[in-house]
Amino acid sequence: MKRMKTFFSGCILAFLGMAFLNACQQNPYKHGEILYEGFCASCHMSDGTGLIGNIPPLKGSDFLINHKDQVACIIRYGIADTLVVNGSTYSQPMAGIPQLSDIEIANIINYINHAWENDYGFYPPAEVKTSLENCQTKGK
Ligand code: HEC
Repeated sequence: MKRMKTFFSGCILAFLGMAFLNACQQNPYKHGEILYEGFCASCHMSDGTGLIGNIPPLKGSDFLINHKDQVACIIRYGIADTLVVNGSTYSQPMAGIPQLSDIEIANIINYINHAWENDYGFYPPAEVKTSLENCQTKGK
């Protein structure tokens, strides 16, 4: 009797494990997506297109490809610069979002690197941490 019980709970665990894996495979960047919706979409829009002339796009952004090591710092400390993104100029400042942890920032970066047909590669959390330790705007 006891053995039966163990067998069944084993099955249930295996089943739960599979359901979990499945959910992960469908969208490995779900956590980043939720954070993006909460912290970024109000400006950059859910579809990553921004607002031409005011908010630069993240979808297809050449800036994002060419400044991979800066993105973590932009999210934490903000940026107030004149940026040219896909040929358009943007000069409104973006405020930093200091309450996001290193791992949350890594998840957001990996979400935007893969959303909306972006194919900008995986940014390992350890590299995000190193970038954050070396932000030039830090302490300003
Ligand atoms: C209040 C509006 C606002 C919010 C919220 C916001 N941004 Fe921005 N973002 C901007 C603006 C405006 C710029 C342009 C800054 C400049 O010109 O100096 C910008 C620039 C950027 C850039 C560099 C340019 C580009 O388009 O590639 C990235 C990357 C970026 N934001 C990512 C994010 C992410 C990720 C979040 C959420 C964690 C976020 N932003 C939240 C307004 C915002």
